[in-house]
Amino acid sequence: MTDEETAQVAQALIETGMDAVIATNTTLSRVGVEGMEHGHEAGGLSGAPVRDKSTHTVKVLAAELGGRLPIIAAGGITEGKHAAEKITAGASLVQIYSGFIYKGPALIRESVDAIAALR
Ligand SMILES: Cc1cc2nc3c(=O)[nH]c(=O)nc-3n(C[C@H](O)[C@H](O)[C@H](O)COP(=O)(O)O)c2cc1C
Repeated sequence: MTDEETAQVAQALIETGMDAVIATNTTLSRVGVEGMEHGHEAGGLSGAPVRDKSTHTVKVLAAELGGRLPIIAAGGITEGKHAAEKITAGASLVQIYSGFIYKGPALIRESVDAIAALR
């Protein structure tokens, strides 16, 4: 989605009375994984390759929403500092999927500590 489309979604969320928004999910883009062994496979791409794109979307949504509804940020959190980046970008909560598969519960503690250190 373009930033303009993301902004339109934010307005629709407000107008339709949504309670919160999760940003983002997986991507169909293969930018960043070109030439990798499984880089050409079909389906949603998650984890590190979506991190920056996801954080950008959180920033655009946060600017448009202006705190009117909470943002739950997901996409490429594989270290605690990535969770903190999402909060700094405007998220109220984070969601971890791929990173949890590879790192397990230790990533939760790492993320909590990194977010607490922002205060
Ligand atoms: C194996 C797998 C299954 C998923 N299933 C769902 C699903 O059923 N519904 C959904 O909204 N997102 C689903 N997702 C997307 C994740 O919730 C998450 O938004 C995405 O993977 C980006 O976060 P991550 O980089 O931490 O994995 C799935 C992701 C993976 C890797």
